[in-house]
Amino acid sequence: MAIGIGLIGMGVVGGGVARILRDREREFKDVRGLDLDIRKVAVRDLSKPRAIDLFPDRFTTNPMDVVADPTIQIVVEVMGGVDAAYDLVLAALQNGKDVVTANKALLAERGDSLFEAAVQNNVGLGFEASVCGGIPIIQTLSQGLVANDIQSLYGILNGTTNYILTRMTEAGADFDPMLKEAQDKGFAEADPTMDIDGTDAAQKLALLCRLAFRQRVSSGDILKEGISHITALDIDFARELGYTIKLLGIARVVGNRIEARVHPAFVPHHALLADIRNEFNAVEIVGSAVDAQVFYGKGAGELPTASAVVADLIAIAERRKAGLGPAGAPLAPLPEADLVPIGDIQTGSYCRLTVYDKPGVLAQVAALFAGENISIETVIQHGRSETEGGTVPLIMITHDAPEAAMQRAITRIGNLSAVTEKPQIIRILHP
Ligand SMILES: NC(=O)c1ccc[n+]([C@@H]2O[C@H](COP(=O)([O-])OP(=O)(O)OC[C@H]3O[C@@H](n4cnc5c(N)ncnc54)[C@H](OP(=O)(O)O)[C@@H]3O)[C@@H](O)[C@H]2O)c1
Repeated sequence: MAIGIGLIGMGVVGGGVARILRDREREFKDVRGLDLDIRKVAVRDLSKPRAIDLFPDRFTTNPMDVVADPTIQIVVEVMGGVDAAYDLVLAALQNGKDVVTANKALLAERGDSLFEAAVQNNVGLGFEASVCGGIPIIQTLSQGLVANDIQSLYGILNGTTNYILTRMTEAGADFDPMLKEAQDKGFAEADPTMDIDGTDAAQKLALLCRLAFRQRVSSGDILKEGISHITALDIDFARELGYTIKLLGIARVVGNRIEARVHPAFVPHHALLADIRNEFNAVEIVGSAVDAQVFYGKGAGELPTASAVVADLIAIAERRKAGLGPAGAPLAPLPEADLVPIGDIQTGSYCRLTVYDKPGVLAQVAALFAGENISIETVIQHGRSETEGGTVPLIMITHDAPEAAMQRAITRIGNLSAVTEKPQIIRILHP
């Protein structure tokens, strides 16, 4: 018997899903015995051309038609947004339908009650496509690595920022022109704020924490810093010191707590994550049984994202066909994570100061670091200012120190009369 599929949205991802379902129809029927029938599609504009031909009466502009249709068993939410998508997904779950979504913002902001509703209604809520697009990272954490205590997870979770940082590194360019290039090539949206300021990566990290540690982490509680302040000069110094700058999502177990943070980081050249270029994503997971594993691939785009949606669809459809309930351990209720307070997070830092080229400045800065018990590992100052009374960059690498102490020291250093610009701080990854 055919399984009814309803799509809410047929844009980039929804179009890819429809294409894959059409192109692999025979394979799904013959090999898996699954007859998947797209019975309704909700869109905004009925006159737009669509990825596949369907009878016009299957399109609607009212997404509630999809959710209420008794002939639909699995709803695919690929519309985006939070509030309207929440109402639709909740209604679908309450109507006994399984749901597959690619919407990380929805799950990061309202996931708790949706996961709860899935459990209460004994239906599936698949979200493989919401993190790292085509990389099966959700499946890996929820099934493949189930034998492990996850100790840490380091990821390049946002393709837009990785593209920009790669191009800055390779072209020796500053942030703004490379953002523009990313937008021109379709790797950054017209409003890239959520990517650039780390929000998107923090939302994905919060979802990964739920699976890796089986605790609830709110993306708003994660230390979060974006990439717009990174300059070509920082990239040059990073290279000289043996590092590449990447925007990382990091979650790890520290004692009985979870540390979770998203920020640009100096990644040593020899680390695998340093080699992840352009719009690609990667996640390195350390598990108690498997040790380190790295997962790499395309984190967005029509077909990679649709691949993940279809993987969830097929897994759910197979269980439906077999008369089984949802797979895997339920994701609600989960205890709230005991997070390491942001001020206690320990990292080494690269600190770039712009200072007047005169004697005694280094001693003043070193004294302020010492006042916070922060020890300095390396100091670099190349050459002298070319003009009398001019400025030079002064680079310091510090040993690990708590975030709060570092912030206090940097505020005082920034107030020194010899320091002419806001100090630049980039944390260092010690894998
Ligand atoms: N694009 C990616 O690479 C990617 C990767 C990972 C996750 N995602 C997630 O996937 C979701 C979809 O992204 P997308 O890039 O496919 O978006 P998109 O191209 O803008 O498509 C959105 C679709 O939803 C329809 N829609 C929007 N509001 C609607 C409403 N109120 N009623 C009915 N239909 C409505 C649109 O209709 P019209 O076509 O008529 O405008 C369109 O078909 C988002 O949650 C996004 O974060 C996307």
